[in-house]
Amino acid sequence: MKFLRAFFVFSFLFASSANSQNYNNGVVSSANKLASQTGIEILKRGGNAIDAAVGVGFVLAVVYPTAGNIGGGGFMVISFPDGNSTTIDYREKAPYLSTRDMYLDENGEVIEDLSSFGHLAAGVPGSVAGMLYALEKYGTMKREEVLSYAIELAEKGFPMEKELANGLKNHKEEFSKFDGSKQLFAGDWKKGDIFIQQDLANTLKLISKHGRDGFYKGRTADLIVEEMERGNGIISHKDLVDYNVIERPALYGNYRGFDIVSMPPPSSGGICLIYLLNILEQFDLEGSGFKSSGILNVMIEAMRRVYADRSEFMGDADFVRVPYKTLTSKEYAKKRFTNFTPGKAGNSKDIGPGKDLIKEGDNTTHYSIADKNGMLVSVTTTINDTYGNKVVVRDAGFLLNNEMDDFSTKPGSPNIFGLLGGYANSITPGKRPLSSMTPTIILKDGKPFMVTGSPGGGKIITSVLQMIINVVDYNFSLQAAIDEPRIHHQWFPDEVLYEKGAVDKVTLNVLKDIGYSFVPIGSFGRIDAILFNPDGSMSGYSDRRGYGEAIGY
Ligand code: GLY
Repeated sequence: MKFLRAFFVFSFLFASSANSQNYNNGVVSSANKLASQTGIEILKRGGNAIDAAVGVGFVLAVVYPTAGNIGGGGFMVISFPDGNSTTIDYREKAPYLSTRDMYLDENGEVIEDLSSFGHLAAGVPGSVAGMLYALEKYGTMKREEVLSYAIELAEKGFPMEKELANGLKNHKEEFSKFDGSKQLFAGDWKKGDIFIQQDLANTLKLISKHGRDGFYKGRTADLIVEEMERGNGIISHKDLVDYNVIERPALYGNYRGFDIVSMPPPSSGGICLIYLLNILEQFDLEGSGFKSSGILNVMIEAMRRVYADRSEFMGDADFVRVPYKTLTSKEYAKKRFTNFTPGKAGNSKDIGPGKDLIKEGDNTTHYSIADKNGMLVSVTTTINDTYGNKVVVRDAGFLLNNEMDDFSTKPGSPNIFGLLGGYANSITPGKRPLSSMTPTIILKDGKPFMVTGSPGGGKIITSVLQMIINVVDYNFSLQAAIDEPRIHHQWFPDEVLYEKGAVDKVTLNVLKDIGYSFVPIGSFGRIDAILFNPDGSMSGYSDRRGYGEAIGY
């Protein structure tokens, strides 16, 4: 109680939106103002960026159930003040009882929605184990203190934003299908309603008291397994007890002298981002003009090739060989682009098969944190689709993920993001589904330059890419770089998706004339990022497409 009271008073008096200001002591940018305030309060109380990241992560699970979670998974990329880096993989895992063809009928056809809706869609959650691992190894504060913010917000409630109230209302029918979800979410919510989550508060208290055992063993584990039994799910006590966090070396690239630090497999995000940047580096973006037809031609063809390779080569590297050294090498990027003909649209059929249209969820969430000592934390976390598999664990108060849909349920059959996959990303018990999450840190001469990342399924990678080149090549301010409308191509379907205003009319016609098919789409990607100025001060910005906030002090 005392923590939260202090935090509200403190935040409203002293913390301010970091959108256009520079700060020296810390910035937190996340999809929700209460979460960002929590992170800043933790920094002000002497915590480091990891303490803040873990506090923010648990608060997002309370105030941003759309994607914040304890029933999902995520990736954390950390850069230490000495310039070294590491990553923490707490991606969900396929349960022991999963099988390669578990979402196919007797004719080998994909059973609609089975991998994305309901109990069978859930992978073994990793968020609690991952966040606590980070806190114990790299944090400085006590677990009980870091979790107190989330517990209090769950227990006392908070006023709903209109986006959350509408989001819950829009999914009322799906929530009504499951007891726990119906009890917690299926109301006629409106902006300003106080949202109290006592069951979730009780679960968080168990985690606060017992650490990971408060989730993976005892009452919470029993409730998860009982929930599975109610809906023919397959997560067992053994799956939960055996869940393991993996600390992995970061994946490195270099773009025009900037060091890129990102997430290795089971995310495709780091590989694809570095691969795309390696292709773009072969061209003079600045000299060729911002979003000129020539540069868009290059960007689209780069995206086509990178997403084709994503589909073929990428999966959990603990189970399949992922040639990531080649895929992130400058030589391969050059070789792969030798068949690029300037002024001509490529054709995805020349590269491989694919079909279907994209369904897009509002799925994942990203937050970026920097503290005064130069520790940087970039976290993307997810329950996959909006509100995950829509199943709240009854009496435990939290949603489960539908991350199993990120596996390739059948080679050549698209997932909810329209992404294709093959053998490398097929289901195997204990394996982690391929992700597009791209939590990224950029250093310049060993010093902090940027912390960035985004939600958006398969469009995460291209959102982060465009934001980076807008800063590095075109010298945009952080806000302008993020707000700028984006394009996206992912090999199949063979079309260029674009946000309103992303391409001017004349250029659009030039590109259509040379063979591109353009499809307008609502907004995608919601970047939360921090940028460092030459004097070492920092600013933050939360994407106009969301309703989050960057706060600094
Ligand atoms: N669930 C979205 C991703 O991991 O890419």
